[in-house]
Amino acid sequence: MTKICCIGAGYVGGPTMAMIAKKCPDVQVMVVDINEERIVAWQTDDLPIYEPGLLEVVQEALGRNLFFSTDVDQGIRDADIVFVSVNTPTKTFGEGAGYASDLQYWELCARRIKEVSTSDKIIVEKSTLPVRTAEAMERVLHSGDNPVHFEVLSNPEFLAEGTAIEDLEDPDRVLIGGHETESGQKALQTLVDIYATWIPRERILTTNVWSSELSKLTANAFLAQRVSSINAISALCEATGADVADVAHAIGTDSRIGSKFLKASIGFGGSCFKKDILNLVYLCETYGLQAPADYWRQVVAMNEYQETRFVTTMLRSMFNTIASKRIAIFGFAFKADTGDTRESPAIRVCRELAGEHAKVVVSDPKAIANARVELSDLLDQIGFEEDPYAAAEGAHAIALLTEWKQYKELDFQRIYDSMAKPAFIFDGRNMLDHQALFNIGFEVYSIGKGNKTHLK
Ligand code: NAD
Ligand code: UGA
Repeated sequence: MTKICCIGAGYVGGPTMAMIAKKCPDVQVMVVDINEERIVAWQTDDLPIYEPGLLEVVQEALGRNLFFSTDVDQGIRDADIVFVSVNTPTKTFGEGAGYASDLQYWELCARRIKEVSTSDKIIVEKSTLPVRTAEAMERVLHSGDNPVHFEVLSNPEFLAEGTAIEDLEDPDRVLIGGHETESGQKALQTLVDIYATWIPRERILTTNVWSSELSKLTANAFLAQRVSSINAISALCEATGADVADVAHAIGTDSRIGSKFLKASIGFGGSCFKKDILNLVYLCETYGLQAPADYWRQVVAMNEYQETRFVTTMLRSMFNTIASKRIAIFGFAFKADTGDTRESPAIRVCRELAGEHAKVVVSDPKAIANARVELSDLLDQIGFEEDPYAAAEGAHAIALLTEWKQYKELDFQRIYDSMAKPAFIFDGRNMLDHQALFNIGFEVYSIGKGNKTHLK
């Protein structure tokens, strides 16, 4: 029986391993983490992350061939294949601070693997890493006099939060990079065979290690660039009377452009886009490529502009002062169907509103706990109400920041009646019926569309 160990039971490690265990009942999957609370939660009905459909997948395999443990060393020792899926955040100190990936968690894993292994293993880079990380990791793994051989593969993950289960079950592609040596190709084939259990072979792409590592950063940079591109156009739409949804539709029907990832918004969030683009910028600069570095840096700059622009619009339209005004935030997660708030645009929006001395009240169906942590230094200025009706009561404005479906179903007449007047609504996701809101009496502002105002 093939034995897999995955180090890191987070947003990627947990769902990915649960899917492998579900699809390959003859493979034993052990997920290990140093975070005991997470490991315990994975074995309950209250999983450590919210992801539609995940509980069913975990429960199907849990205790059969899917196990969770804090015994990292034992997990590594027993395994034929070790996936490393630990966090690789942006470095906050020293050389490359603010751009480069912080590889300390990854290197700690490599050292642990080297230390405790007594048999040959395939090591799989599941975390998103800078191109040529495998080279450094191989040096760590093969340092000293342990005769064990480690073959490093790159197998980046492309799942998006909120749709992780669909993405894992039916991915556009799986990418595996291996060395062009006999042992590299043998290891690569072992991993191909696991995925081929449920994924058509033609969707499993194989490359060398460097192409695979770089493709992951590039994929995220291209996706984020599309959002920044349409957000740049949204500002021009507001200035000219064009409608960004019409523009996105018109250009998206060109099959060379495509219709996905063209929704104007308050900006992209999530733990990866910004970090991965900044890492790409750092890599370009490391190789002396200043123009490519500047090009990609602008995608992040555009995103920050869009977040700040949203707050500026709120301030300008509310008579240049929001001090002491109650503002209800509808949605704090960085996108719908997740409780994840890492790099959520809502963080900057709430901080800037609090900076203007507004009374901010955050509401979200799944992300209140994480929101409290993100804003822990502002708890005297920011309130939390799970119920959006309670959050909006007495408010001067609503800022809708996450596209939770349930916000479409709200009784906006009831909300309007409970608010201070004039009642403003800022739809940062262009998801509500703006004409209906205007007819109720709201002052309606959106992204890249004309405003609807009763004030003359
Ligand atoms: P995460 O923070 O949710 O999970 C990482 C886990 O690793 C944590 O639970 C942490 O305790 C554990 N860990 C850290 N050091 C450890 C060690 N030495 N030993 C054992 N466990 C350790 O992170 P994530 O969102 O799952 O992301 C992991 C990687 O996958 C990152 O490189 C990220 O860029 C990449 N990625 C993330 C997504 C996503 O949607 N979140 C998608 C694709 C790729
Ligand atoms: C993204 C990628 O889509 C995944 O393929 C990748 O694996 C992952 O990053 C990663 O490496 O972590 P994720 O961040 O979970 O996934 O979510 P996305 O659906 O990509 O959304 C990212 C942000 O862009 C969200 O804040 C979303 O609201 C925003 N967005 C997305 C827009 O503003 N407009 C769009 O048209 C699409």
